[in-house]
Formats: sequence, C-alpha cells, structure tokens
Amino acid sequence: MPSRLAVLASGRGSNLQAIIDHFDNIARERVAKVALVASNRADSPALIRAATASIDIAHFDGADDGTQLLALLQKFRIDLVVLAGYLKKIPSTVIREYAGRIMNIHPALLPAFGGEGMYGARVHEAVIAAGAKESGVTVHLVDDDYDRGSILAQWRVPVEKSDTAESLAARVLNVEHIVYPRTVEMVAMLQQLESKTSS
Ligand code: GRF
Repeated sequence: MPSRLAVLASGRGSNLQAIIDHFDNIARERVAKVALVASNRADSPALIRAATASIDIAHFDGADDGTQLLALLQKFRIDLVVLAGYLKKIPSTVIREYAGRIMNIHPALLPAFGGEGMYGARVHEAVIAAGAKESGVTVHLVDDDYDRGSILAQWRVPVEKSDTAESLAARVLNVEHIVYPRTVEMVAMLQQLESKTSS
C-alpha cells in the first residue's frame, strides 16, 4: 500500500507539483501518493494544482490549535505530512501525533539563514547580504522550533557574484524540485520498512 501523503501549502505550489509529478510518473515503485492537499489560504494556487490533478483538497484555519488539522489528517488516513511553502507553525498537538512524520523544505543550508520570519525572498536576500559563496536546499523533520528539526537531505547551490534574490531563488528552486520528491520517497520507503520489521 502506498504511503498516504498530505501536502500543506500556502503559496504557488511548485514543490507540490514536483511531488505530484514524481509519484505519478517518475518513481519506479508506487511507494507514496498525495492523498490530500490542505491550505490555510482558500485562494492558494496550490489548491488549484491539486484539484487539476484530481487530488482531494481542504482548507483549514492556520490559527487553530491543531484540532482542525489533526481531524483532517485522521479523516484522510495520512501517513506522512509534507510542508511545501506552508508558513504557519504546526501546532504541537499535531507534531506530537505525527512525530518524525512531518517534513519541510527550506531554500538555504540550515541551520544558517533559517528560523522564524526567514522565508521567501528574505532568505535569499540574507544569503547575498552575508556574502555567502554558496546556498542550497535543506529537507528536515519538523519539530516545535522553526527550521530546527533533524536534517534529512541537503544540496549545495552556488551563489554567483551577479545574483539577485530572484536569480538565486530560481537556481535554488530548480534543485528543490529534484531533492524534495526524492527525499519524501526515501522517508516513505524507510517508514514502510520500519513498519514491516516491527509487525
Ligand atoms: C520554497 O522555496 C520552499 O523552499 C519554501 O517555500 C517555497 C515554496 O515554493 N519552504 P512553492 O510554493 O513550492 O513554489
């Protein structure tokens, strides 16, 4: 049985699209499938991408204490929660219930250039302002602190002298689309292996 993924997204959803495409067309084994796309923003383009791919969508209140989100995850029998451009903090009730099963992607090499308020163009502006010669992507587990959970995958991306936040963001995003779906696949496979060996 494929692992059932919930992708939470507030924005344009390009990582969501890469994940949908990966599990539809690229992954050799059907280890996972996107079973739900949920957003705190009813007008998120990510929801349109999901609906276009005939994936169930839901809207929840990002300021809720976790009751709404947890109910959704349980209703859709979600195994793994994938944050893709979801900016709100995940309530601790959800983190406890899904410990080790919530992942996020950050467009820099954590622990540098992460933490509360570090998202979108701000990350790339900070990288350039610091004169860093390289940036990258980080996929990590989500815990109670912003951008501080265990790192699952990282890949470096060069920073060019001529870079603007936009040009750097675009170079990093291309790498995100390769790294994130494959890291999700790896985690789903490892979870399935663990559940087989423990049953
Ligand atoms: C990505 O840069 C991701 O690293 C960050 O938010 C952005 C989401 O982009 N967490 P998209 O909505 O997937 O296009």
